[in-house]
Amino acid sequence: MASSYSVIKQEDYRETFDAKHLFALDILVGLSETRKRISSKYFYDARGSELFTQITNLDEYYLTNCELEVLSDCQESIIGLVRNEPFNLVELGAGDGRKTKILLEHFLKTNCDFRYVPIDISESAMKDLVIDCGENFPDLSTNGLVSDYFSGLKWLNNRYKRRNFVIFLGSSIGNFTHAEAREFLRNVWNSLHHDDIVLAGFDLKKDIELLLSAYNDREGVTAAFNLNVLERINNELGGEFDLSKFRHFGTYDVFLGAMQSYLVSLERQSVFIRDIGRAFEFWPWEPIHTEYSYKYLISDIHRLAEETGFRVERDLIDSKGYFVDSIWRVVKPRESNGN
Ligand SMILES: C[S@@+](CC[C@H](N)C(=O)[O-])C[C@H]1O[C@@H](n2cnc3c(N)ncnc32)[C@H](O)[C@@H]1O
Repeated sequence: MASSYSVIKQEDYRETFDAKHLFALDILVGLSETRKRISSKYFYDARGSELFTQITNLDEYYLTNCELEVLSDCQESIIGLVRNEPFNLVELGAGDGRKTKILLEHFLKTNCDFRYVPIDISESAMKDLVIDCGENFPDLSTNGLVSDYFSGLKWLNNRYKRRNFVIFLGSSIGNFTHAEAREFLRNVWNSLHHDDIVLAGFDLKKDIELLLSAYNDREGVTAAFNLNVLERINNELGGEFDLSKFRHFGTYDVFLGAMQSYLVSLERQSVFIRDIGRAFEFWPWEPIHTEYSYKYLISDIHRLAEETGFRVERDLIDSKGYFVDSIWRVVKPRESNGN
């Protein structure tokens, strides 16, 4: 008898799960750990996206105004990097696209040949953004993708063979640990072509008091934003969290160089989640880790770019020195297909 074998293409088992099952799986795993955790990517249901927009309007949350200043002041040097050929303006985690509109307006005014491809995991945020673009920029071609970053990039690459200008605003990269950021950026590099451009926002290290007040605002919007993830578990997975029995706590870890957010259980309690089919036990003052917001030095950013296959073109820094949009070029050997 002839023998043979087949090579089965490896697929991430997570790709076979739908969004709700992945959410349930991550909550099961995260709440079963000794140090309980919920990923910050689950913050963004419709209410979460709305609360994040409110955060960006708070006085204490300096990040948005700093990046608005950078993008307004540097439109010309940004456009100079991409205007010589048609391109996709790809935005990872676009949210409400408020800051991006500065670039969109300028690109349209100067007759750039481009298509806007915002990618966001939040359907409500994407719906609002696409409507907003249609109303404000009738000449703009917008292809909004409701997806995670890499499924969106894969879809785009199979469809449009054009140069890519990828923007990743608002310091979302700070939500990754350093190892995750390296993996994320190398995946972005794999999804792009030689000479494509990436503009990534990084929040710079600064006075710790400023950081603490940015993530613990007086009106309690950041607290509501964190607590909303428990409400989301209640709504989408049949959870029984009583939000009044948890408190938001934001602190700076000087060794990590990161703000960290927690939801702290105020008493001993047991919380049943119907779609997971079990209860989770909480001790008094036991925390659930919900978010990292890593802060960077310029030298850390340059090292990260070089380690993951990019060449730094320039750093655009606001007048207070709080925030940088760092612009990188993808460098690939001629015959490389990635990896
Ligand atoms: C911190 S907000 C930033 C929004 C906007 N870029 C800004 O600067 O204001 C992060 C955004 O990324 C989206 N997001 C989070 N994780 C994502 C993922 N894995 N894939 C795609 N979008 C994601 C969220 O829905 C949210 O709109």
